[in-house]
Amino acid sequence: MQKKKYLPFITNAEIRKRIRQIAREINKEYKDTVPVFIGVLNGAFVFMADLIREIKIDCEIDFYKLSSYGDKKISSGEVKSIKDLNCDITDRDVIVVEDIIDSGLSMKYIKNDILKMNPKSLKIAALLFKEGVSSLDFDIDYVGFKIPNEFVVGYGLDYAQKYRNLKGIFVLKEV
Ligand code: IMP
Ligand code: MG
Repeated sequence: MQKKKYLPFITNAEIRKRIRQIAREINKEYKDTVPVFIGVLNGAFVFMADLIREIKIDCEIDFYKLSSYGDKKISSGEVKSIKDLNCDITDRDVIVVEDIIDSGLSMKYIKNDILKMNPKSLKIAALLFKEGVSSLDFDIDYVGFKIPNEFVVGYGLDYAQKYRNLKGIFVLKEV
């Protein structure tokens, strides 16, 4: 059996600092409205919790869930929604909160799905963005960190459902 080892990559303090910067931008941009933050389960739950606690304006939250990678590190290329929204986002300012953009397939699907619900506006906040990997034909509005093509865990991100509880972000290595 292969052993797995994780190497420190981004500390919790660095993450929290970056989140405060992103929240400042959001607080300014949305000061005249009440945005709905939509967290993508499961990975984004930690980022979402820390982000919204830095939001000073009135806001609402909901969660959206996609089918996952299973225990694999590489996307199956198939994405489907397995939990719809509970709130009505028609004519609302929506900010999707995602943990990481890898191939971009999930975000493409989510964006199309949410646009069908006719929000007034739609922006995307992703904590991590794997540079040079995604094939997105649109921009991510708020990116925490651009990272190289490594498999990372911690701060909500898992490998086979483990490591979500780690406070920082780590690179998972097979040894
Ligand atoms: P995409 O559809 O390839 O962009 O993959 C997006 C989803 O796959 C993310 O929301 C994560 O849940 C998961 N994922 C992608 N890369 C990683 C990683 O490095 N670590 C943990 N999960 C990942
Ligand atoms: Mg995810």
